[in-house]
Amino acid sequence: MAGKKKLFVKTYGCQMNVYDSERMQEALGGQGYEPTAAPEDADMILLNTCHIREKAAEKIYSELGRYKGLKAAKPDLKFAVAGCVAQAEGAEIVKRQPMVDLVVGPQSYHKLPAMAKALDGGARAIDTDFPLEDKFDHLSARAKAKRAPAAFLTVQEGCDKFCAFCVVPYTRGAEVSRPSARVLDEARQLVDQGVREITLLGQNVNAYHGHKGGLAGLIWELADIDGLARIRFTTSHPNDMDDALIDAHGQCDKLMPYLHLPVQSGSDKILKAMARKHTASQYLKIIDRLRAVRPDLLLSGDFIVGFPGETEADFQDTLSLVRSVGYGQAYSFKYSARPGTPAAEKATVDDATATDRLHRLQALLSEQQTAAQNAMVGRETTVLFEKPGREAGQWVGKSEHLQAVHVLTSQAGKGDLVKVRITQASSNSLQGEFLEKVG
Ligand code: 5AD
Ligand code: SF4
Repeated sequence: MAGKKKLFVKTYGCQMNVYDSERMQEALGGQGYEPTAAPEDADMILLNTCHIREKAAEKIYSELGRYKGLKAAKPDLKFAVAGCVAQAEGAEIVKRQPMVDLVVGPQSYHKLPAMAKALDGGARAIDTDFPLEDKFDHLSARAKAKRAPAAFLTVQEGCDKFCAFCVVPYTRGAEVSRPSARVLDEARQLVDQGVREITLLGQNVNAYHGHKGGLAGLIWELADIDGLARIRFTTSHPNDMDDALIDAHGQCDKLMPYLHLPVQSGSDKILKAMARKHTASQYLKIIDRLRAVRPDLLLSGDFIVGFPGETEADFQDTLSLVRSVGYGQAYSFKYSARPGTPAAEKATVDDATATDRLHRLQALLSEQQTAAQNAMVGRETTVLFEKPGREAGQWVGKSEHLQAVHVLTSQAGKGDLVKVRITQASSNSLQGEFLEKVG
């Protein structure tokens, strides 16, 4: 192989894109590319894109525009667009921005090495197929280097739920689960490389069917891996929260007491229009059952305001659902019409009204987040040290409830599990004092 080439990757959107970017980076390693954090040093710039809300494509075109100077200075510089914008826009990207050499959809990443090779001959490469083979079987084996203590692991992709507002079923395709044996092999390898916490990823991760016991079955097998201390998963749909998974929250010590369970709206009328296939009270019942087995479970959610047809009364239903759940953390968005989705055909709520609702919802959610943070003060929790903090002697890691915790200590280091007492809280992070190293 000729001298090393440099690859700059910029990742947008969800955690699955973070995982995919790592895998693409590793796959391109075989083509002589090594990562760089500086676009001006790169021989290839890869944008791993997100299409979930409006203006995603516009953002990518303007980002590409910003790199024009680099291309002028280095004509051999290659541009690749991956992810959900690549899937949605396909060859259109090259038409609008001829500087782009490679367009690859999320289900075709295993073809990247061959596509990158084709570029060396001056060709363009575009692939947005949904191939039948499992891309992970064809992607290069993962690098053996030492890794950070917390890692993502994709176990499921795609979605068959077809919520009326969402592009995911179109950009990521139908639900596919990786067989549990493969997931367990990858998890063991990650643990050998120093990983202590794994977050299982899927667009609809609790619909996982790569194990006969579903996601709970996989979690219990992962829990048997020595050295793996913590398991998390995201994102889930309420209708796939089965009994075994609810029970695992009460019984599996390694499963952390944090759950991201989006509800989107508290109004049954809007939930129906969204094709969520559950009501607000069904959602609340699931939360009750989870809290019965794990009283300290911290809940997170996603909300959309201003969905077509949402009235002030519907929005009040959302606020009252939020009040009855009490979220520790949440994401909220203004509805954004996505071309090709059923909801895109409907009349939208006036923008000023939607913005006003978003602000009111966010005020309530941030009040709840602050309360959840403050409630930690005085409590003991374990923290997985991930990296040094900004102050000398300080470590930063996550609590069991996924809160960032800062701890000043010389008695533990990266990858250690430490018991701390929380001494101070702010809305986004906690301070803890070291008690003892527990793993
Ligand atoms: N408009 C606004 N928010 C959306 N989401 C998904 N599609 C849209 C859309 N068209 C939000 C949902 C989902 C999260 C990942 O993004 O809340 O749970
Ligand atoms: Fe989109 Fe999630 Fe609904 Fe699937 S379940 S369509 S990914 S919002």
